[in-house]
Amino acid sequence: MPDAIELLSTRSSCKAVALTAPDPSAAEIEKLLTIACRVPDHGKLAPWRFILFEGEARLAAGAAIAAAFRAKYPDAQAEQVAFEGRRLAHAPLVIAVVSRAAPHVKIPEWEQVLSAGAAAMNLVLAAHAFGYSANWITGWYAYDRGVLDALGLEPHERMAGFIHIGTPSGPVQDRPRPALNDIATRFTG
Ligand SMILES: Cc1cc2nc3c(=O)[nH]c(=O)nc-3n(C[C@H](O)[C@H](O)[C@H](O)COP(=O)(O)O)c2cc1C
Repeated sequence: MPDAIELLSTRSSCKAVALTAPDPSAAEIEKLLTIACRVPDHGKLAPWRFILFEGEARLAAGAAIAAAFRAKYPDAQAEQVAFEGRRLAHAPLVIAVVSRAAPHVKIPEWEQVLSAGAAAMNLVLAAHAFGYSANWITGWYAYDRGVLDALGLEPHERMAGFIHIGTPSGPVQDRPRPALNDIATRFTG
């Protein structure tokens, strides 16, 4: 397992289409989810939940995505529709992080949404810590009501993202990171 600081300093996402086997075992998936739950969560509301897509179920979910795409673009080429149907089938494992943020007497919804983001990031980091790679993707279908219904989301729930997990089939390209001087200031009063 990589050193934590080394991992946090060097991690970068792998394109979902380049993620392949091997992927986490059942025991590792349980650990990934356990780590994803260990995030700041004001009020202990657990304002998030997870949906796992594995094996053929990835294509069943993809069928809902393809159907929604066809409904939006009736003239779409068959190839494009087929591509949409494989959206969740590139990586061997996809874990959707669903925000359950809702009005609360004390805890602002914004904080609940942020907690879902933290859960998603913990999932990404934990996958890398196990030696796999991951990519946090939303895509148009994360915002399509028909797709969300088909995936079982309640009307008030929102898709924080799909975390695609597997092993990179080749070298992973990093991207430039912001210069700290551009985004960090020291408050001087
Ligand atoms: C909420 C959220 C949604 C994202 N959705 C997409 C997406 O739909 N497509 C995409 O290419 N990258 C998306 N990204 C960006 C990738 O997760 C990732 O940041 C990018 O590929 C660069 O990887 P790295 O900075 O982790 O190395 C999203 C990021 C976040 C936080």
